[in-house]
Amino acid sequence: MSNRRDFMGMALGSFAALGALGALYAAKRTWDPLPSVKSAGFTTIDLSPAKENELVTEKWRGKPIFILKQPADAPKSDREIHVAGGRYLVVVGLCTHLGCIPAYLADKKQFKCACHGGEFNSVGVNTFGPPPRPLDIPPFKISGTSLILGETGPEYEKMLAAGLTLKV
Ligand code: FES
Repeated sequence: MSNRRDFMGMALGSFAALGALGALYAAKRTWDPLPSVKSAGFTTIDLSPAKENELVTEKWRGKPIFILKQPADAPKSDREIHVAGGRYLVVVGLCTHLGCIPAYLADKKQFKCACHGGEFNSVGVNTFGPPPRPLDIPPFKISGTSLILGETGPEYEKMLAAGLTLKV
């Protein structure tokens, strides 16, 4: 009898473990960032799997980097980056007031900083509260469908020449 109970216990335990593994795998798939390669201060990120209005957070030189594919109906901005037909926001994900990490509210298409209520629109421009400037744009270079963070390409230099505030 006890053998039978042991067997049932083991069978149930294995079943529960498999279920937990499945849940972990599903969670990992949800958390998976965009495909990226890191090397010596540069991070290459393939933007092709990015979905409109879905924030992806990468890491570059210890800082969070927000990548947001702009919805087709989003107003055009000189702060967005054009890659393979898509328009992207690529910014350092630190509030320009005192450095908290703002949250993206997809339904409102805006970033909200919980520390002092600062707000930024979907291309990172400060629209409310104490942040003194837009979210910073890191140096970048476009290569096919990828973005190389840390390298300065012509598109980044064009933004600089246009006088945009890119401070990192
Ligand atoms: S740190 Fe974001 S509003 Fe103050």
